[in-house]
Amino acid sequence: MLKRRTMLGGAVAGAGMLMIGRSHAASGVRPAGRQPWWKEAVIYEIYPRSFRDSNGDGIGDLPGILEKLPYIRDLGVDTIWLAPIFQSPNRDNGYDISDYRAIMPEFGTMDDFDRLMAKASSLGLRIILDLVVNHTSDQHPWFQKSRAAKDSPYRDYYIWRDTPQGHPPNNWPSVWGGSAWASDPATGSSYLHLFSPQQPDLNWDNPAVREEVFSIMKFWLDKGVAGFRMDVITMISKIPSFRDMTPEELKAPEYVYAAGPHLHAYLREMNDRVLSHYDVMTVGEAYGMRARDIPLFTDSARRELDMVFAFDIVHVDRQGWRKIDWPLSKLKQVYAAAGKPRSPDSWNTVFLDNHDQPRAVSRFGNDSPPFREASAKAIATMLLTQCGTPFIYQGEELGMTNLPFSGVEDFDDVQVPIQWEARVKRQGVDPDAFLESLKDMGRDNARSPMQWDATRNAGFTTANRPWFRVNPNYTEINAQACMQDPNSVYHYFQALLALRRKYPALIHGTYQDLDPDHHAVFLYARELGRSRLLILMNMSDRGFTYESSSLTRASLLISNMQHRGATQGVTWLEPWEARIYRA
Ligand code: GLC
Ligand code: CA
Repeated sequence: MLKRRTMLGGAVAGAGMLMIGRSHAASGVRPAGRQPWWKEAVIYEIYPRSFRDSNGDGIGDLPGILEKLPYIRDLGVDTIWLAPIFQSPNRDNGYDISDYRAIMPEFGTMDDFDRLMAKASSLGLRIILDLVVNHTSDQHPWFQKSRAAKDSPYRDYYIWRDTPQGHPPNNWPSVWGGSAWASDPATGSSYLHLFSPQQPDLNWDNPAVREEVFSIMKFWLDKGVAGFRMDVITMISKIPSFRDMTPEELKAPEYVYAAGPHLHAYLREMNDRVLSHYDVMTVGEAYGMRARDIPLFTDSARRELDMVFAFDIVHVDRQGWRKIDWPLSKLKQVYAAAGKPRSPDSWNTVFLDNHDQPRAVSRFGNDSPPFREASAKAIATMLLTQCGTPFIYQGEELGMTNLPFSGVEDFDDVQVPIQWEARVKRQGVDPDAFLESLKDMGRDNARSPMQWDATRNAGFTTANRPWFRVNPNYTEINAQACMQDPNSVYHYFQALLALRRKYPALIHGTYQDLDPDHHAVFLYARELGRSRLLILMNMSDRGFTYESSSLTRASLLISNMQHRGATQGVTWLEPWEARIYRA
């Protein structure tokens, strides 16, 4: 059974929460000797706007999620991460929050949220929320008051600078392009926004801001949420000198933004004041963080975060805005580095898909009809057997693909016009090349409505027009079709998740790459005590004979192909064939 979070003093609040497990003493930490639940969890991300529309307005909502909870539970995951559900003018689909304690009216009410929590709990599902506190919306009352007057008590909630003639105070760029400063007519000063101008950055150096954040966190934890995914949490502490960046730094400004001097102190304060009093998980978005620095967040002795999302894997095929070719060995190196114990107690995440990434099957697999299902299953095999807590993004379990885009006007993402202006209009990047890369890499690829069935609009909504285009391939790729097909991507995910629960080596085992140089085969071992599992994948469109002494006497546990019997070290691999063996 699940072990629910407990509160300081053992009292448990929350709407109809199932209280499972014991209360723990004042430290709030879990009992000694037991693994924290989130190491064994598998997390499913929902982008509520695109998941399921219950009332026919074209926008996904909380009752829609509630309706689909059994579907998520049946897949075999145990924790749900909800992308932001709070009140927001939706410049960045909820990543611009105007009230942290209110549900976005388009998504429903607080009663809907409480009902969702209760239902999830009754199905043994935990829910974590997105904590977006590097910035707020410019519509947040704090910012409204802050911008109104220089002597406002809220002035120092944000980062303001005065400069002659409205020049930006320094050369810092927004992460998406253009200056990171916007000049505000009300007082003639400029405020800092690392993302869009409608997302002003909070001033974490102001203790009042930190108090506000801690109080918001407690508000939701006391409702029974199981933790937070923390949006661009690496950027909350700003470099105090606000010096200009060097030309080299300007190529990847996120590394400067993630290098603030108080980042770790603020996270420790957050842990001490809030998180340590609950048995919950945290996963920080470690944008701008080098892999070697990750244990600084996740080493449990440091008492900061539990896990972070590192970007190395989803950056293997990127250079700046450009999509590049990548050899399999590059991916293997990242996983091998992640698989090495980096500190006594540091834990990874594994993800390929999320609401900011193109679809994994279109990117790491091959989404053309002959290969889509096999490659979606092969990369699922990788996702669910690497070291760390896996995150699945809605539709990944169906093998959903990138969208067809024809022009820049097809994109909804706030990032796109900002990047277009900065790259194409100002820096003179070739518009066709930029568009091609947007088609491949754009975030909107992940944001089209979930494909539930073959009826109009994929069964996502009864409205004539959903808020964003449905992928035309929904008639073939949809949940209902997957349910009916025992060999579907969905059922393969289900089987892999069951295997993970059965073999702790897949969770706690060591990692060893058994053929780091092969250009198409990914073969590695996970080992725990006397249990040794081998994971074998052909990550290419071609079939070939493969030989490895490790496979001798191994017995097959699962495969994404109709299998032809045991191997004796030599085997034929079909394109995108994946197998897991017990050695
Ligand atoms: C994170 C979110 C992304 C958002 C950005 C600004 O990267 O995942 O969707 O646009 O932060 O909040
Ligand atoms: Ca709706």
